[in-house]
Amino acid sequence: MSDDKTKSASPHVLPSLPYADTALAPVISAQTIGFHYGKHHRGYVDNLNKLVAGTEFAGLPLEKIIAGTAGKADKTAFFNNAAQTWNHTFYWNSLRPKGGGEPPAALKQRIEASFGDLDSCKKELAAAAMAQFGSGWAWLVLDGGKLKVVKTGNADMPLTTGMKPLLTIDVWEHAYYLDYQNRRADYVNAVLDKLINWDFAAKNLG
Ligand SMILES: [Fe+2]
Repeated sequence: MSDDKTKSASPHVLPSLPYADTALAPVISAQTIGFHYGKHHRGYVDNLNKLVAGTEFAGLPLEKIIAGTAGKADKTAFFNNAAQTWNHTFYWNSLRPKGGGEPPAALKQRIEASFGDLDSCKKELAAAAMAQFGSGWAWLVLDGGKLKVVKTGNADMPLTTGMKPLLTIDVWEHAYYLDYQNRRADYVNAVLDKLINWDFAAKNLG
């Protein structure tokens, strides 16, 4: 985002990846990131900038565009590109090299209160990722003081239903097909064991 407040949020900018494009290998290859970040994520940002130019949404931050277009049949393209821009930035931050392992103590406590133990939480995330038919997302969210796992289809995301996202896993085929072909479960389990960024989730928990 620009530091110049007069420019507000428009045009939207593709944020830098929080690590090198080789940093998530071998779980997620540089080739996958090249397409996923360099083509798909960039494409959503570019499309959004084209769409909002000259409209009531020009200059608005992503969250406002998302809130103002969710569920409106005549604003689907705005919503899809704004939400996918937001979701992907959130996804890259939900991963890190040498991730996985144990969450920070405060988050771990909340996970144990809601799911019993960390393993049950990971199993629920994996199950949601597998149960999402077609393209979408699996999320760990804070909903009314309780941690929950939810899944969303296509560009949909938990902010629009009042939940606070803590982390996400992209289960669109473009997230894993080059590395895993149709083996979505292998991708999801490897992400949960080796890349998931519990520190990011803890930070979002506040
Ligand atoms: Fe994606």
